[in-house]
Amino acid sequence: MNRSLFIGSLMLTTIGMSAQNKANITLHVDDASQIIPTEIYGQFAEHLGSCIYGGLWVGEGSDIPNTNGYRTDVLNALIDLKVPVLRWPGGCFADEYHWMDGIGPKESRPKMVNNNWGGTIEDNSFGTHEFLNLCELLGCEPYISGNVGSGSVEELAKWIEYMTSDGDSPMARLRRQNGRDKAWNVKYLGVGNESWGCGGNMRPEYYSDLYRRYSTYCRNYDGNRLFKVASGASDYDFNWTDVLMQQVGHRMDGLSLHYYTVSGWDGSKGSATKFDANRYYWTLAKCFEVEDVIQKHCEIMDRYDPQKRIHLLLDEWGTWWDVEPGTNPGHLFQQNTLRDAFVAALSFDIFHKYTDRLKMANIAQIVNVLQSMILTNNDKMVLTPTYHLFKMYNVHQNATFIPLNINCEIVDLKANGIPRHNMKSREIMPMVSATASTDDNGFIHISISNIDLENKLEVTVDLGDVKAEKVTGDILTSKYVFDHNTFDNPNLVTTAPFSGAKLKKNTLSVTLPAKSIVTLKLECRN
Ligand code: AHR
Repeated sequence: MNRSLFIGSLMLTTIGMSAQNKANITLHVDDASQIIPTEIYGQFAEHLGSCIYGGLWVGEGSDIPNTNGYRTDVLNALIDLKVPVLRWPGGCFADEYHWMDGIGPKESRPKMVNNNWGGTIEDNSFGTHEFLNLCELLGCEPYISGNVGSGSVEELAKWIEYMTSDGDSPMARLRRQNGRDKAWNVKYLGVGNESWGCGGNMRPEYYSDLYRRYSTYCRNYDGNRLFKVASGASDYDFNWTDVLMQQVGHRMDGLSLHYYTVSGWDGSKGSATKFDANRYYWTLAKCFEVEDVIQKHCEIMDRYDPQKRIHLLLDEWGTWWDVEPGTNPGHLFQQNTLRDAFVAALSFDIFHKYTDRLKMANIAQIVNVLQSMILTNNDKMVLTPTYHLFKMYNVHQNATFIPLNINCEIVDLKANGIPRHNMKSREIMPMVSATASTDDNGFIHISISNIDLENKLEVTVDLGDVKAEKVTGDILTSKYVFDHNTFDNPNLVTTAPFSGAKLKKNTLSVTLPAKSIVTLKLECRN
């Protein structure tokens, strides 16, 4: 597959020396063939902090306006976002979750301690029905993460039967007793989560056997077809992928991977909102490193599965900062700045290139946890810069990826004094990132990020044979890169119409302000 290439000059000078940067982008529309699966824009919701309780779910009796117990404001914002797939109930929580505790009358559901996340008491009022009904309201695919670490084969097998069997089976009867007649459609099933860590501290050989055993009893009922996902590696653990490909092979439909943009230098993960230029550039370099990681896992998978029948699913990704001061350290509640939106933009630009193998990505997490779309506080809600970035990039969902080349300034991290904490491969990074696609209506969308904190960027886009007649666009930027939306000032960082792009024959000239991300729409003549 023709992936995007960076062709650039290696600048050993300090970033920001030139008052204006220039870049050229060449689109290869004739090579466009790979669809960007909608699932690349997937989400993840765990029983962690206030992701579920207070974030998605307040219950029918709440003073907070709700629709059958789901917060109406959050629900509407997520419907607007066009969420394609939602992973649940964890994360680490999934391997201690016993689904039968979360069905039936709420008052008789047993409570449990959420051992992974702050020891919070979980009352199980949000369970299987509440989750799958939410997916129906959002119009998204559910992605169930099954308990392998502390559960049993029988428990997982019965859960699948409960959700998807439409016949006169014991679990279908139980579901009906609990008020749901028709089976739900459940496609994606994770067989364990982080089985090398919180999901059981297993070795890949042992987990491979467990996967084979558990997945055998996860049956396809009444027309429902499960897509079974094996618990995959954490970032650089290439051996895990190798062993699973060898020992599980085509028994799995997909293999997961987790990669967080997380630092850990100076003994902390760093503040979400207070950071200097070095930490900003480190963040984006660490984010770029996901490409090296994806490439290596893909290379291993290609050796065993050259026909790419087994999908790679990056089912946890995003930034991980220190929690907001005064909040429970086990609840992972963090703010979200323009820097986080850059991480999302650069990540999508990379993900789009690997969709011949990478078929799903789920940012962690949807509300109030890590790199969220939405933050809530009692009855208040705020949309984060990452939410706005996702919405601006949604035009690429289900569109055909257009390979492109970027010729731009490329900086050497060491020469520019940018730390390489928690990084293994990346030594340079481009100062421009971009992606393009063409949709069913024939519109071409090009997203471009000017990473430079100080200087504007003049980009010339060579459109080849494309006959474009009109260009419009949106921009996401702010005065400071640490700007973020708060409950008192909820619209500081948001998208705005962009008029800095001009068409001349088959060339597009774009002027991007410093630290800005744009998505352009080209209307073309056939
Ligand atoms: O997303 C938070 C946690 O990160 C998840 O529970 C776990 O899978 C990962 O380590």
